[in-house]
Amino acid sequence: MINVSHLSKRFGNHEVLKEINLTIKQGEVVAIIGPSGSGKSTLLRCLNLLEKPNSGTIAIDQVILNSQHYNHKQETNLRKQSAMVFQHYNLFKNKTALENITYPLIVGQKMAKDEAKQYGLSLLERVGMLAYANQYPITLSGGQQQRVAIARALAVRPKVLLFDEPTSALDPERVHEVLQVMLKLAKENITMLIVTHEMEFAKYVADRIIFMSNGIIVEEGQAKSLIDNPQHELTQRFLRQLTDEVDFEI
Ligand SMILES: Nc1ncnc2c1ncn2[C@@H]1O[C@H](COP(=O)(O)OP(=O)(O)O)[C@@H](O)[C@H]1O
Ligand SMILES: [Mg+2]
Repeated sequence: MINVSHLSKRFGNHEVLKEINLTIKQGEVVAIIGPSGSGKSTLLRCLNLLEKPNSGTIAIDQVILNSQHYNHKQETNLRKQSAMVFQHYNLFKNKTALENITYPLIVGQKMAKDEAKQYGLSLLERVGMLAYANQYPITLSGGQQQRVAIARALAVRPKVLLFDEPTSALDPERVHEVLQVMLKLAKENITMLIVTHEMEFAKYVADRIIFMSNGIIVEEGQAKSLIDNPQHELTQRFLRQLTDEVDFEI
């Protein structure tokens, strides 16, 4: 389904991704964990060309792109294969929940308005937001906005959903409802690549976990075994830091 080969990305002299190789199967849920600055977001952004890789190839389903020479059509085709859910939901503030979903369909895909509306409502229902269809983002909680953003991402029928820390900006009591929707999608066999700090979620929902540090994949493995029994010292240290109690003195 997804095959990334020798993907590299530099910002100036800073090599942020170093020859990343990655394969994801249809229906697989893969979590990416790792310290801040390790290149997790850049990897996701390269997959849908929000960042231009310096070298390597990206294949999603039938679309293959060589990052060193591709044309506009290939770029558009690769972009259509995925949809991204961001930390900060990025909804249009002047559009209702429903319009946030239908607008790209009507304008981008020339879908008929009625059809877009019916489809949009069905997507809102899938994320438990049907009752809020006509509300504006400002009247919704962060968790509700993120669920609308997930519905919007689903609307383009992507081959893979990319999540970049989808719960990091939420109030703690709003994290659960978003993870619940993601769990539901995972059970529906939707292919997902999720950057997350929610270790419990990654452990129980992901099929596989990838630990990144400093632009490379240090370790990957079956979710539960990687968390419970990390092999690499960097992985061990990272997981230990997360579980260590915060010590402070007054
Ligand atoms: N647009 C950019 N310009 C320059 N440096 C960047 C840019 N985006 C990210 N970086 C740098 O690339 C490194 C990896 O960033 P990122 O992929 O956001 O890491 P992560 O998501 O794992 O925290 C960081 O050192 C970051 O400062
Ligand atoms: Mg990031």
